[in-house]
Amino acid sequence: MNAISTPNLDELLLQAQSDIAAAAEPRAIEALRVDLLGKKGRVTDLLKSLGGMPHEQRKAFGEQVNKVKEQLSVQLETRARAIADAELERRLASETIDVTLPGRGDTAGALHPMSRTIRRIEQIFNAMGFESVQGPEIEDDWHNFQALNIPESHPARAMQDTFYALNGARLLRTHTSPVQVRTMLDRKPPIRIICPGRVYRVDFDRTHSPMFHQVEGLYVAENVGLADLKHDLQKFLSLFFEREVEALFRPSYFPFVEPGADVHIRWGDPEKGTRWLEVLGCGVIHPNVLAAVGIDPERYTGYAFGMGVERLAMLRYGVDDLRLFFNNDLRFLEQFK
Ligand code: FA5
Ligand code: MG
Repeated sequence: MNAISTPNLDELLLQAQSDIAAAAEPRAIEALRVDLLGKKGRVTDLLKSLGGMPHEQRKAFGEQVNKVKEQLSVQLETRARAIADAELERRLASETIDVTLPGRGDTAGALHPMSRTIRRIEQIFNAMGFESVQGPEIEDDWHNFQALNIPESHPARAMQDTFYALNGARLLRTHTSPVQVRTMLDRKPPIRIICPGRVYRVDFDRTHSPMFHQVEGLYVAENVGLADLKHDLQKFLSLFFEREVEALFRPSYFPFVEPGADVHIRWGDPEKGTRWLEVLGCGVIHPNVLAAVGIDPERYTGYAFGMGVERLAMLRYGVDDLRLFFNNDLRFLEQFK
């Protein structure tokens, strides 16, 4: 076998070194590594050829080839790292984030029109001396119906069909009136509270949603009557709408009040014809309800009301289908920002 002479090895080393220095990409370095040091690489071939050399030559030449192999391996490694560093430098320079640029205008969130309306209602009543309280949305039959003078199988239940659980032991409250019951059980008169919250019914059309919001109001003291109720509600309505609204008190029946009324407000387009929209129910608390919660009906009287928040928002904002409030269409919701 023909041994490569030392000058040839020097030549190979010089050529390889200049190739490595000229390589500009990781791929070029890898190609050189394979060509020189790979399984069939040129330096590897030289090492393989050692076997066919005379003993005296083999040792010296072997040392030289191994030295070249070591040198080239280090240089390939160094050059590869230099290329990677340069690439990183280039990316850092070109991809820097200019934190002084103006923002792209992310839109700020806003309160849902129902939250806004509830806050507005609360502000008005809080200023009139009503404290806000909360009650559970999952109720039992006694608080939602029986304590409110609505016995089992009373026809008034049919108008407030709801979602039952545990064989009827629990239900989603159909109105905020059970919070009256809980508050009267808890406190002694005088009591003056409102309770905003979610309520649930099997209802669905333009003016009815299966989940909606009510604000309950309750005032129990000595000598509270219908005149106080009418006065306070009229005051609320004029503050809430900030304009003249035509409100109609119409006698209505709720087992837990006597007398009872609904309040309707005129709405619609005067050109095309207007209608009345019921916004709340109210009345003077029935003595049976006071007795059921341990308040002496001979000494104390009171009034209560329950208003529909979606209905009030419909009228204030001129929305003719309250289901729009819950479709979560941003084009609709953004108008209330
Ligand atoms: C009641 O719920 C009584 N608890 C109100 C009350 C309280 C009367 C205290 C007397 C004393 P009613 O079912 O009418 O009443 O509901 C009250 C209001 O809730 C309605 O006037 C209406 O504004 C609103 N409302 C009722 N059902 C829906 C519904 N499905 N979707 C949206 N709003 C509703
Ligand atoms: Mg009603």
